[in-house]
Amino acid sequence: MATYFIDLSPEEMRRRLGDALSVYVDAMRYPRGTEEQRASMWLEHTRRRGWKAVAAVDVTAAVDVTAAVDVTDPAGQPAVAAEIAAAPLLGVAYGYCGAPDQWWQQQVVQGLRRAGRNPAEISALTSSYFELTELHINPPAQGRGLGEALARRLLSGRSEANVLLSTPEINGEANRAWRLYRRLGFTDVIRGYHFAGDPRAFAILGRPLPL
Ligand SMILES: CC(C)(COP(=O)(O)OP(=O)(O)OC[C@H]1O[C@@H](n2cnc3c(N)ncnc32)[C@H](O)[C@@H]1OP(=O)(O)O)[C@@H](O)C(=O)NCCC(=O)NCCS
Repeated sequence: MATYFIDLSPEEMRRRLGDALSVYVDAMRYPRGTEEQRASMWLEHTRRRGWKAVAAVDVTAAVDVTAAVDVTDPAGQPAVAAEIAAAPLLGVAYGYCGAPDQWWQQQVVQGLRRAGRNPAEISALTSSYFELTELHINPPAQGRGLGEALARRLLSGRSEANVLLSTPEINGEANRAWRLYRRLGFTDVIRGYHFAGDPRAFAILGRPLPL
């Protein structure tokens, strides 16, 4: 058995969308049925500039895993490529380049203005950033470092100046997501923020790139 980290093309994301959304719903403990509400949004995101997605899969069959060094391009190793293509997702993460016409950026800019940040600060934060939109590991596979590995793979080689994300506020920052983001050096951008239409409080966190 071996865990592989792979990049997902937009076509692969479309093909694996059901599995990816199941990981998301289980990880976030959302009610079943949330998948259908999110599907079109995740697909729309694949068309955004700078979109990148990564995944972790477990390959259990007897393939020559030692030969599979470059899992980004397993072409030429058909047995491995076929195993990876059929392997269930343990985790998925994606993001894209933030832009002024995106709802999320508009919300964040509004929050920064309300927090009294001046236009130069707002521009420095938002003129060039990668939005880390989703990062989820299937609950039985959590706590093994897969989330960190996916985040690092997703953020490697980006050309943006910053990475920004939002995560639900949790008392004492006491969950794996918070521990991971702090370990990776994310700092507060806005705390206790309410996105339009969502009663939950979120934190916007960020850090300069490269990681
Ligand atoms: C947040 C989440 C993505 C983190 O992924 P993860 O794989 O569970 O966690 P990490 O990669 O940070 O792994 C770190 C944990 O694995 C352990 N670990 C074991 N081997 C490890 C290794 N080789 N490298 C790093 N950590 C390792 C660490 O001790 C650490 O344990 P701790 O969190 O109890 O302190 C995942 O827990 C998740 O999907 N949570 C629910 C959904 C969610 O909150 N998503 C983010 C919303 S914004």
